[in-house]
Amino acid sequence: MSDTLTIALSKGRIFQETLPLLAHAGIEPLDDPDTSRKLILDTNLSDVKLVIIRASDVPTYVQYGATEVGVAGKDVLMEHGGEGLYEPLDLEIAKCRLMVAGPSQSAVNGRRMRIATKYVNCTRRYFAEQGRQVEIIKLYGSMELAPLVGLADRIVDVVDTGNTLKANGLAPLHHIADISSRLIVNKAAMKMKSARIKAFIRDMQAAVIGRRQ
Ligand code: ATP
Ligand code: PRP
Repeated sequence: MSDTLTIALSKGRIFQETLPLLAHAGIEPLDDPDTSRKLILDTNLSDVKLVIIRASDVPTYVQYGATEVGVAGKDVLMEHGGEGLYEPLDLEIAKCRLMVAGPSQSAVNGRRMRIATKYVNCTRRYFAEQGRQVEIIKLYGSMELAPLVGLADRIVDVVDTGNTLKANGLAPLHHIADISSRLIVNKAAMKMKSARIKAFIRDMQAAVIGRRQ
């Protein structure tokens, strides 16, 4: 097997924040995913490709070995479960918090609370740990809308500045987890391409440390 390296990334925030780390590791894409329709981007290194996919699909591509490595938010990894993956490095980018949020002055009495979220597994686990039975409504985005139109009592979503919650009359209520993006590696690839992948992890680690200073 050749020692090519494919790296799964999502467009937008993760791509933009991973770019300087990749540059530090000597990897520069030859295309910009925001302007190109290409899904596999060449880089300045002939043996390194970037594969552009949806944030929530990154763990799946890496789990099945379709790409050797990837960058995914801890929220997405918690939801996926992490099967078939190693998570060797916290990249310290795309930092936010997974929170329960809702209207600040509202109580839910005498019935099961309804929670709208795209993080169905995290939400089920969190409320089970609290000993609370809740009804979970799966959404794919704009969770903040759900309490405003009576679809749900609460939401579970990531919060950074809190501006989106505030703009919609909602408040953060309970903290579930601190989130940042992680480098993930397919378990089989870690054995088969050990030297190449370990060198990449070391380069990325140096980039993370360099970024702190
Ligand atoms: P998908 O397209 O799969 O639904 P998405 O729209 O959530 O994914 P992004 O918004 O690019 O994708 O978010 C990617 C990751 O960045 C999230 O998984 C999370 O870890 C982090 N993130 C999301 N929102 C914020 C934010 N406002 N501030 C900082 N980090 C964030
Ligand atoms: C994320 C998240 C919240 C918002 C929180 O959405 O789903 O809506 O960020 O950030 P804030 O606390 O700084 O307002 P994003 O902007 O990524 O849009 P998306 O719905 O396309 O994921």
